[in-house]
Formats: sequence, C-alpha cells, structure tokens
Amino acid sequence: MCGIVGYSGRRTAAKIILKGLSGLEYRGYDSAGVAICEDGAVNVYKTKGRLSALADMLEKSGMPKGSVGIGHTRWATHGEPSDKNSHPHRQGRVTLVHNGIIENYLQLREEAQANGAKFLSDTDTEAAAYVIDSLYDGDPIAAISAALPRLHGSYAFGIIFSDRTDAIYAVRRDSPLIAAKGVDECFIASDIPAVLSYTKDYYLMDTDEIAELKDGEITFYDMNGNDITEKKKLLTADFNLEAAEKGGYPHFMLKEIYEQPDTLRRLISMHTEKGAGAIFKNEIPDTSDIKRIFVVGCGSAMHAGLLGKYSIEHLCRIPVSVSIASEFRYDDPMVGEGDTVFIISQSGETADSLAALRLVKSKGAKVCAIVNVVGSSIAREADEVIYTRCGPEIAVATTKAFTAQVLIMYMLTARLAHDRKTMSDAFLDEYLSEMKKLPELVTAVISEPYVDLCKKFAVYNKPYEDYYIIGRGQDYATGCEGAMKIKEISYMHCETYAAGELKHGTISLITEGVPCMAIITDPDIAEKSVSNVKEVRARGGHVLLITSCVGEKSDICDEYIRLPETNKYLMPIVAIVPIQMYAYYTATNRGCDVDKPRNLAKSVTVE
Ligand code: BG6
Repeated sequence: MCGIVGYSGRRTAAKIILKGLSGLEYRGYDSAGVAICEDGAVNVYKTKGRLSALADMLEKSGMPKGSVGIGHTRWATHGEPSDKNSHPHRQGRVTLVHNGIIENYLQLREEAQANGAKFLSDTDTEAAAYVIDSLYDGDPIAAISAALPRLHGSYAFGIIFSDRTDAIYAVRRDSPLIAAKGVDECFIASDIPAVLSYTKDYYLMDTDEIAELKDGEITFYDMNGNDITEKKKLLTADFNLEAAEKGGYPHFMLKEIYEQPDTLRRLISMHTEKGAGAIFKNEIPDTSDIKRIFVVGCGSAMHAGLLGKYSIEHLCRIPVSVSIASEFRYDDPMVGEGDTVFIISQSGETADSLAALRLVKSKGAKVCAIVNVVGSSIAREADEVIYTRCGPEIAVATTKAFTAQVLIMYMLTARLAHDRKTMSDAFLDEYLSEMKKLPELVTAVISEPYVDLCKKFAVYNKPYEDYYIIGRGQDYATGCEGAMKIKEISYMHCETYAAGELKHGTISLITEGVPCMAIITDPDIAEKSVSNVKEVRARGGHVLLITSCVGEKSDICDEYIRLPETNKYLMPIVAIVPIQMYAYYTATNRGCDVDKPRNLAKSVTVE
C-alpha cells in the first residue's frame, strides 16, 4: 500500500504535499514523487528512497511554485524500488499517482504496446495512465468513467490532465481515499494523517465516485457525469496526527491484527478465483518435478513453514523439511538439482535467510521466495516470488504477514493436491470454499466476545515470568508462533511443547498457578490432547484452553476460548489471531512497548 496526496488552493502545493506525505510514510517508503502544475505545464519530480530524499531534491532545485499538484510515497508492488518506477507516472496528457494493484496490467500493457505505446516503468500504474489517456477527448470525467471498467483490481488515483492544470481529479475502488476541505483549499489523501495539519473536515470517497478539485472547491461526480456533491456528507476528524498514523489504534501491532481479514481476502481473491489448478500458475508453472520440499526462514517465518509442512505432508504426501535459516546455512544441507526450496521472509532482507537462498541456489536447487517487501534482496535473487501483499508491517512482532505466509502455504497445498490428485474433487472444493470464509472467521475472532475474553484472561499473566503452551500436530506449530508473540512483546519466558512430550521432562516445571495454554483444533486427536491437559492441571497449572472441538469442562481448563470451526487443516489461521490479541493484552498489562520491543528489530540484516 502506498500513500497519495493532492492539493488545490492558493498555497505552495509542493510544500503542502510533502508534509502530507510525511504523515503517510508508514504506508511505504521505497520512493516518492510529486507533479506540480506550473505556468500551464505539469512538472514531475520523483526519486527512489525516503521522502526526505525528495525533499532534499526539491530544496536543491528550488521548491516548485505551483498551487495545484499531486504526490506519492511508494510501497513497491509491481516493479522494484527505483527512480523509473517511482510515481507520478505519465502517459500522453495524463499524469497520475496510484495506490493499489491493477491486476490485468500485463494484458493492458501488451494491447497498448501493440498500438505503439512506450512504457518507461515496470509498474502496473503506467498502464492505467495509458488507458485513461487513450479515452480522453477533453472531458476528464468522461475519460475516467470510460477507463475504470477496463482496470481490474484496487485503485486510488490522483490525476492531472495536461490541458487542465488548474484542477486535479481523484477516484477510488478498494484502496482508501478521502477528499478534505480547508479554507479556499482542498486536498485528497490516502488517509487522514496527510491533511490533519490543515483541516479536520473531510469527505469519504465512495467506490467509482470521481472528485474534481479546482480553485479550492471539490465537486463530486458519479460514473455518468452527474454532479452528486449535494449528497456528500462532510465529516470532522476527532484525533491528532500521531494517533492517525495508527488509524486510531494505540499500537501498530493492534492495527495490523485488525488488518488481517483484508490482507487474507486480498490474497484469496488474487489467487483462488480460477480454482486450485490455477493457484500460483505464474509463479510455479509446473509442479510435476517437485519430489520433496524445503522451507527455510527465521522467527515467525519458520513457524509459517512448520504449518505448511503439516498441510502439504498430510494433504499432498510430499516430504517437507523445515529449517531455521541460521542453522540451515551452516548445516551442509542435502539439497540440490531437482529440489524446490521456499524461502519465507516478511522483509526479504533477513541476512540468514538470504544466505540460505544463495547457498541452495549454488547447489542447483530452485528457489521460490514468499516475501512481503517487493524488490527486497530475497525477492530479487529468488527464481520465483509469491508476494504476501500485506502492505507495510511496522510493528516488530509480525501478525498480518504471518497469517498471509500460512495462507500461501495452504493455497500451495491446494495446488499441489490438485496437480497430484491426492485430494478428492469434493474435498478440494470444500477446502477452497472454507478457505474463502477465512476472512469472515478472522473478523469474528477479532470481535466480541473474543476481544473481551483475551483482555480478561491476559490479566492473569501479569505477576508471572514463565508460560507454557502445549499442542499436538499443527497445534504444536501454532503454539510455537503463540510463544514467539508472548516472548517478543511481553518478555515472559514462554515455550511450546508437543503435548505428548511434556511428561518426558518439562512437566517438572509445572507448579501451582503457572499459566499454561492448550491449543486443540484437530478433533481426530483431541482426546489425546485432553488427557495431556489434565496432566498439567493435576500439577496445578492454570490452563487457558483454545479450541474448536472440545467442550468447556472445569476439570480440564480455568479459562476457555471456543473458536469458530472450519476445515481442520485451515484452523491454525483462525487459532493464531486471538493468541496474537492475548499476547498483545498480556504485554500492555505489563507496560511493555508493544511496537518497538527491546532488543528486537523488524528485520535482522546482520548475521
Ligand atoms: C525478526 C522479526 O527480526 O525477524 C520477526 O522481529 C520475524 O517478526 C523474523 O519473524 C524474520 O524476519 P523476516 O523479515 O525474514 O520474516
């Protein structure tokens, strides 16, 4: 996700836009640019890097004087961070900035190039500029309305037409965009932080509604060119800039937990619409040569691999070995020609994972990266990349990127099972249709009563320094990620054990009242897990049971969270979200700095 800002008024647009973009930099910081209308011309200034690089560039070249302009701070999705891929992009008489993804951009580019069009960037955005320009005959509203049906995907655009340098135009679908009104000036922005320094009065833009900002006034049109401004309701923001960046959430981590239904929905709509056989067809054209799979990552990324191993081995019968990158790279792994290695990394810059990538490539293996940051080193050096498309994840403890990584592992499972016929069509259909319900199930577990239960049960942990989690099979892997969350942000010493293994040693640590969590989402082995929970209770452990298939009984738990049910192989995505929330409230109760926990960094680019 990127940040876009636009201005029409009496003041120096470039200064206002730069300030606005600084309030949106949490949305992306790969490159930045502005287009300013000066003396009848539309001048573009853009550069790779942080917003500060653009500000320096404008300072040196002299701040443009114009009072109409658009600006952008980028989170790269198509085309890695570079000057040429920075926004604004121009085609013919159209200059625009974009937040979102034009999914059919390749086809649009090919059609345009067949008509002689030249493209300067690798972006999807430039294709949109071409389509709008190709339909422009002097009426901006008509051109935009005609172009939108041809643009598939999500967008928020700020647009300038070269023969109308006294106005900017804006439109959106799925990507956020507001239009704000000041005194004799008006703005567009991806989010409120960008305008709060100038006004608190704004309009929410609806899908496929076009705004014209001219002479400090905003006029709204529908797709048929009708003026609908009268119908628009002016709202007033009731929070300050600092808070806005967090979208009103006290911490980025909580905001990112709440973003998960959208991030999951986006991936599901991008990859599963054409059925299991088409999943990742671009990234992995042929799966027939995949005899065994290696998954390598660090921290939570490795845990996502563990959950992938469970579903692929059970549903596709392909052996999967999962390794911690820092161990793998010095372990002389038995990997080579014919092997497929998945490197999972949110940042795409983690040194150990990058080194593991280079090692397996040197041994002739094929590398497919599962990454969030486009243009990152791992993305660039891998043979194939599957992006998690979560937008910037700012909190050090990953949440939305983790569930996206697990979802990609589950979508890969569907593809492999389809190609190998290891699932019946009926099961595969049920698996995919249940997958499409995951955003709703995750929405449910971040709503009441789950939030209240997590808050209430987290209070118990405050005086304790140790925490134990038990689970069997995939619940063990979910527990590993749960323990990571509790450790990362609340600083409690928390470990997960395979439930059946506890009695072979660790159970000696269970003392009266020590907090424990049991995760049970697999009805086929629930009974076994329940007997292990009873062993913990018998030694005085205080048990929180998180389950989708075991009834609440006082003899097995002190606290109880009943999860909404789905296909058992998809349950970890539903189960981990309330555990993220529970860890969050455990940490806030203990007064920890949730977004920037001690000793940790969002991406460890050193060994
Ligand atoms: C740590 C992050 O630094 O690195 C974790 O705090 C993350 O959240 C781990 O799981 C691996 O990072 P990445 O970017 O390679 O997924």
